[in-house]
Amino acid sequence: MKNILVTGGNGQLGRSLHKIAREYSLYRFIFTDMPETDITDRTAIDNQIQAYDIDWLVNCAAYTQVDRAESEKDTARHINATGSKVLAEAALAHGIKLIHISTDYVFGSDENRNEPYMETDPTGPINVYGETKLEGENAIRITGCDAAVIRTSWLFSEFGGNFVKTMLNLSRQRSSINVVDDQYGCPTYATDLARAIMKLIETDIKGFEIFNFCNSGVTNWYGFACEIFRQAGIAIETTPVPHTSYLTAASRPSFSVLDTTKIRSLGVVTPDWKESLSECLAKLGEIKV
Ligand SMILES: NC(=O)c1ccc[n+]([C@@H]2O[C@H](COP(=O)([O-])OP(=O)(O)OC[C@H]3O[C@@H](n4cnc5c(N)ncnc54)[C@H](OP(=O)(O)O)[C@@H]3O)[C@@H](O)[C@H]2O)c1
Repeated sequence: MKNILVTGGNGQLGRSLHKIAREYSLYRFIFTDMPETDITDRTAIDNQIQAYDIDWLVNCAAYTQVDRAESEKDTARHINATGSKVLAEAALAHGIKLIHISTDYVFGSDENRNEPYMETDPTGPINVYGETKLEGENAIRITGCDAAVIRTSWLFSEFGGNFVKTMLNLSRQRSSINVVDDQYGCPTYATDLARAIMKLIETDIKGFEIFNFCNSGVTNWYGFACEIFRQAGIAIETTPVPHTSYLTAASRPSFSVLDTTKIRSLGVVTPDWKESLSECLAKLGEIKV
């Protein structure tokens, strides 16, 4: 029996891992979050690792408010960079392995990009959130613990706040909606990411590795919204607009599609995002299966 400590266990990825945990009978999961376990608090992390004889740390905790990060840079950096460093140093000290989640927003500065990003491509974040997540990746690499960093994108799930739930909520309040159609990426169902995490643990990674993981298929936010409404049978006038007509505090990449060849070579599956969206909408009670 291997023991897995999941930090940020109340977030949408943490809760998605919790949902599938019973399928993995060879592992015991300990889910924790703030205020019990602050990832920036080394003593709290050490105590959890010792108390539960932990073998794997899975970090689902992060500062994830992309727009708010622009005005809360220090807080975002403290959680995303310092928190990652603390976890990596604890993993090294205790001789355990770390799975950490990063983001497609470590990319974006290449405005002409139209090819999926490989793990080896030069990074270039264009917002504070992306900068601090990249700092977190680098802190883990420098520490030298056994760690897999998984870059993912456009997470959705039945838990917490996300684009799918925002669109469903807005459709109940409005008869029309404008959605940005010039930013391209890959929606990712948090349950599929949770299964990918478990596959990496079963594979028993060594050293430091970065992996991309997202669902198969590429779309933009407008295409994502239209598919949500189509599958849920919601009639709402949906209009594509350029990002310049929808001002946000943080800039976002116009193209942040991730190439998943590396992680798929380990046997990790990347279901089509539209099929995973159906699964999520069924869980939300929006469609019948
Ligand atoms: N959401 C996306 O679209 C997306 C896209 C790409 C990558 N990612 C990455 O995927 C991972 C999971 O994202 P998610 O959407 O599941 O995030 P989430 O729903 O925002 O969950 C993050 C969790 O971490 C907790 N947390 C915040 N600061 C903490 C600290 N100092 N110590 C311990 N826990 C703390 C949060 O608690 P509070 O709620 O109380 O703050 C929350 O429960 C993150 O690394 C994120 O950067 C997300």
